[in-house]
Amino acid sequence: MADQSIAIGFSRKALDVDVVVTEWLSALLRWLHVIAAMAWIGSSFYFIHLDLSLRTRAGQPEGVKGEAWQVHGGGFYQMIKFLVAPARMPDELTWFKWEAYTTWLSGFALLVVVYYFNAELFLVDKSVLDLTAPQAAAIAFVSLAVAWLAYEALCRSPLGQHEIALSLIGYVFLVGVTYAFTHVFSGRGAFTQIGALIGTIMVANVFVVIIPYQKKTIACLIAGTPPDPKWGAAGKQRSVHNNYLTLPVVFLMLSNHYPLFFATRFNWLIVAIVLLIGPVIRHFFNSRHAGKGSPWWTWVVAAAGIVAIAWLSAAGPSGNKSSTLPETPKFAVVQEIVISRCSMCHASEPVWAGFTSPPKGVRLDDPAQIRLHAGLIDIYAVRSHAMPPGNITEITIKERQMLAAWITARAPRE
Ligand code: HEC
Repeated sequence: MADQSIAIGFSRKALDVDVVVTEWLSALLRWLHVIAAMAWIGSSFYFIHLDLSLRTRAGQPEGVKGEAWQVHGGGFYQMIKFLVAPARMPDELTWFKWEAYTTWLSGFALLVVVYYFNAELFLVDKSVLDLTAPQAAAIAFVSLAVAWLAYEALCRSPLGQHEIALSLIGYVFLVGVTYAFTHVFSGRGAFTQIGALIGTIMVANVFVVIIPYQKKTIACLIAGTPPDPKWGAAGKQRSVHNNYLTLPVVFLMLSNHYPLFFATRFNWLIVAIVLLIGPVIRHFFNSRHAGKGSPWWTWVVAAAGIVAIAWLSAAGPSGNKSSTLPETPKFAVVQEIVISRCSMCHASEPVWAGFTSPPKGVRLDDPAQIRLHAGLIDIYAVRSHAMPPGNITEITIKERQMLAAWITARAPRE
């Protein structure tokens, strides 16, 4: 045993370089992604607030929609919104677009490094659908493009003119895609995919509609010809979509830390509820910033949605049909299950290719560590099927129930 682990330690040295490089690449991309997303969401929330808080005042020059006074960082700002180009175009005009583009570029790179390169761990679950890693990555990638095209077609169709019908169809479309993803990928993969899909739509709104139309409008204003009002309307429509999609997307991006959401029976329904709660909360702030009062009912709806999510997430994973637990197993049996299904990765010297240290520092390779982590084992492998990732080591339902019985009996040592 000792000889074997030394041998593995040595033979792995050559591999360690790319394991470490991947780890760092993932860390740097994540850092960039989170910062770019903060800058993007920050500036878009800022401008929504600014736009809604503009007030008209007597004596404003023609072509001014309104103005707002703000105080920040020790000074006062007078913000004036012009709907037409000012008499003289300013020499410098600040555009807001790289926040969005950087968020997508870094996010997509991260998706490739974490999910598409490690598809067998994070994207595929053979008990959901028997896919190879390249198949899963290809489906995931193509679905982003197809869903975006479908959204674009919907917005440009006659339906695009009817706000309510469009949002209803858009909602059903996103829930439908989520349902499909949870039947193709692992729960975790499905959640990240739907998050990436919504994020892609949002960035494409900036890249394909909002910015190009703004450029055309400016060109017209400079040339002194009237811009097509359709451009402004389309840009506005896409900004509103982005506004309402922001909170759900952030939830989805964070959800991979919470197996009770993504790896339980009603995971797709949880997403359906989040897609409602996010817009409802945004509505509260939008009304307030527009000076139209505070619709407190939105918080009641949001709270009800959150209670529903918590309740659904406690329903356990799909597949656990029987609710009666087996008799409390002996610790030796539990240890045997954990060693054969978990410890190849969760050991101080993991033998699973691609790991140089136990994932997330969770060691499950000796009795004390297994007992110490009983609570986490409960969340990740009993109440949800997040671990083993994609059930790659093929733990059985019966084994999960043995773990459940042991944890219910307060993880006895014997
Ligand atoms: C193929 C390797 C592999 C196997 C087998 C495996 N895990 Fe994991 N485990 C991982 C990886 C990778 C992560 C980190 C996931 C991430 O990046 O979010 C992880 C994370 C965890 C965490 C999360 C810790 C935290 O706080 O974030 C727990 C708990 C866990 N595993 C328990 C288990 C249990 C219990 C088993 C066996 C039933 C198991 N794992 C089997 C690879 C594995």
